[in-house]
Amino acid sequence: MNALYALFLPLTLCGTVNADDRAAKNNYMLHCQGCHTPDGAGAEGKVPSLKDFMGKFLHVEGGREFLIQVPGASQSALTDTQLAALTNWMLSSFSAAQVPGDFKPYSGAEVGDLRKNTLVHVGDIRAELLQKMAVNATLFEKPVE
Ligand code: HEC
Repeated sequence: MNALYALFLPLTLCGTVNADDRAAKNNYMLHCQGCHTPDGAGAEGKVPSLKDFMGKFLHVEGGREFLIQVPGASQSALTDTQLAALTNWMLSSFSAAQVPGDFKPYSGAEVGDLRKNTLVHVGDIRAELLQKMAVNATLFEKPVE
């Protein structure tokens, strides 16, 4: 039995989930899911759903920046590298079908630059981005592979 564990445990740990993803998932649990809920669905009227939605921001100008500059992300206690990995993980876990095919994952350096500008009027900026998405609605008619 122990021998079997010794054989299979490393295989399991080295499976499809890599160390960055595991760390990102842990950081999500510790820093974000209290509001965003474990599956990203949020709380209606209070916290917007990330599910099948978050990736849509990447289709409109300013959206890539917004996903990092939104206060819950930019003001978190995470390092730039951790926030980059977390945001990349959130996009692929909650909204993979909406992420553009040419999406370039966030790097720590990019996140560090974006975090220097925190959004104060977050509601207004979010509303503007949603407006741009509505204008570009045809982008989302067919699921992005
Ligand atoms: C105290 C509750 C709270 C916590 C904790 C929180 N968020 Fe949020 N998040 C919100 C709310 C509310 C919004 C909507 C925009 C706003 O009002 O800030 C939001 C919006 C977002 C968005 C943009 C999605 C959209 O549709 O607007 C992202 C990305 C995001 N949060 C990431 C994170 C990350 C990453 C963490 C953890 C490091 C986190 N949030 C922690 C409440 C929270």
